[in-house]
Amino acid sequence: MKLNLPAVFTGLVFATFVCQTPAAEPETVWLSSLDLTPIVQGWGQPQADKSVTGKPLSIGGKRFERGLGTHTDSIIRLQLNGGAEKFSAFVGVDDAATSDQATLSFRIIGDSKVLWRARGVKRGQPPRKVEVDLKGVKMLLLLADSRGSINFGHANWADAKFLVTGARPVIVGAPKEEAVILTPKPPRTPRINGARIFGVRPGHPFLFTIPATGDRPMTFAVDNLPAGLTVDSKTGQIQGRIEKPGTYRVTFRASNLLGDTWRPFKIVCGDTLALTPHMGWNSWYVWENHVTDKIMREAADAMVSSGMINHGYQYVNIDDCWSAKPGATDPTLIGEPRDEWGAVNSNPRFPNMKALTDYIHSKGLKAGIYTSPGPLTCAGHIGAYQHEAIDAQRFAEWGYDFLKYDWCSYRTVATNPSLTQLQWPYRAMGDLLRKQGRDIVLNLCQYGMGKVWEWGKEVGGHSWRTAGDLGGSFYGIPSALFRDGFDVYSGNELHKHGGPGGWNDPDYLLLGYLSNWKGQTVPTPLTPNEQYTHFSLWCLVAAPLIFSGDITRLDDFTLNILCNDEVIEVDQDPLGKPGRRVAIDGDLEVWARDMEDGSKAVGLFNRGEEPATVVAKWAELGLEGKRIVRDLWRQKDLGSCEGEFKAEVPRHGVVLVRLRAK
Ligand code: GLA
Repeated sequence: MKLNLPAVFTGLVFATFVCQTPAAEPETVWLSSLDLTPIVQGWGQPQADKSVTGKPLSIGGKRFERGLGTHTDSIIRLQLNGGAEKFSAFVGVDDAATSDQATLSFRIIGDSKVLWRARGVKRGQPPRKVEVDLKGVKMLLLLADSRGSINFGHANWADAKFLVTGARPVIVGAPKEEAVILTPKPPRTPRINGARIFGVRPGHPFLFTIPATGDRPMTFAVDNLPAGLTVDSKTGQIQGRIEKPGTYRVTFRASNLLGDTWRPFKIVCGDTLALTPHMGWNSWYVWENHVTDKIMREAADAMVSSGMINHGYQYVNIDDCWSAKPGATDPTLIGEPRDEWGAVNSNPRFPNMKALTDYIHSKGLKAGIYTSPGPLTCAGHIGAYQHEAIDAQRFAEWGYDFLKYDWCSYRTVATNPSLTQLQWPYRAMGDLLRKQGRDIVLNLCQYGMGKVWEWGKEVGGHSWRTAGDLGGSFYGIPSALFRDGFDVYSGNELHKHGGPGGWNDPDYLLLGYLSNWKGQTVPTPLTPNEQYTHFSLWCLVAAPLIFSGDITRLDDFTLNILCNDEVIEVDQDPLGKPGRRVAIDGDLEVWARDMEDGSKAVGLFNRGEEPATVVAKWAELGLEGKRIVRDLWRQKDLGSCEGEFKAEVPRHGVVLVRLRAK
């Protein structure tokens, strides 16, 4: 009998021998023993056999020797290749979380099917037992999410183990996606883009550059330009001052060798600025504390040479780190913090602020600056505390058009602020800016405290950050895009408060190349589909479109995201009514925004880990009858629909459409 032959004789004999061996004993593989590096989570690092804060794993008073401590939102993607029989664990919120505000959900998905889920999991509850059969499953996802804020989402997979008879499970990263450019290039004939309305105060310097794509040279003209303004026919820059308040209906015209075009435009001379959300660039997420005059000039150059200016991008804004830094040893960060009259000085990296804003203005762009109401800014530079009036005046003299006013060390002034104290610094700065001889848009950066969206406009703000820094919670976790901006403080309520003159600001566009906080510049951690999601969502909710990646290093894909005129038109719609979520079904969401022309912009989002069909139902959109559907990213009509529109949406992706009656 073959079985009695020594196994080493021949390959054939060896194979026979193996075939007749009794089935291997199932092996226990602990989740925490695997290479955890590919796991992505919203805060900190996954911890083997410990909670995310490094304490012993404990759920509802029960201690566990083994398991994995993570933080929401976390994605553990495991390749099983059919080798695992069973997964078991106990899940819950770790007892060491110092607040019970988090409500978690845990999900286990095998080859696109939900195998197990637990919702409403809170700290202090007993551990929930998980046991799932994995026979035949190739790809397994272990997900833990928080609804609302991710704070204290200390999600434990305690005692988590696989029963394995074949290949051992391996934790893998997100699937690779190709960066597909969906948007056709703008035509070579002239096309006027961007906002259709612009607000200015009487007697103040006016600067607006007509954004137009098409071959250069291009010739610009404006019909019915109000007294006091002139247009440069070569650059499309409109400058001057309007003395008389009123609404001026003008017509922009642009022509080149291939054709000509026109578009109506409204100039509203009155008290309200920021009639559409601001569009521009900010230095923070790429240059952080390395920003210099040279970097800002190069940014202005790049806004023109990349063509971003032709799509409506206007502001070139310095963030923190332009003033002196007390205690710094770097000679380029020190110097007299204030002049003999007490006005703030720039540090040696900004030798001449007026020359810098002149340079930015000469390109047809506007300049922005940053400070804090506290003694110091967030990065420890000189803030405006007790020098608010003289600093506001200085910003105006320097020629700035935009001020971001942070909170940071103001906490040392107002330790436990009442609503009045929360509002005070912003109200004071709002009043001061209104007194200057130029229009300065005010951005409140206090992370949403005291429901700033309810009073930001009243205190003089033109936009207000709705949450903490997107860059902080965002790396690898695209659900932060949805939550940080729009869920976190008031559910789905923010849309009621933004509008012409004051906008919800969920922070910057984190696209292109960004700083990774080690001083290196790395590509955005968002996948291509997540980038489409990011930009679409910002446009649907009428957020400022402020790009904060490296503007001198724009690849074609990033430019395609930033410069789709039909998508930007959603953001810049003159009605100024922010969109909102109209339907949610697990990971699938539909957001919609009413447009001035009666059409609706609709985003079909898939936050899930697998492609899915998302349905936008007329009943949920408040529509009846036939609608023509236009895909905005592809700039293509998809035909007409009645009752609903549905689309296959990729993992973490979006299909953004506009629905018109005809
Ligand atoms: C805070 C703000 C950021 C940035 C930094 C600068 O964190 O929220 O946007 O301005 O300060 O220090």
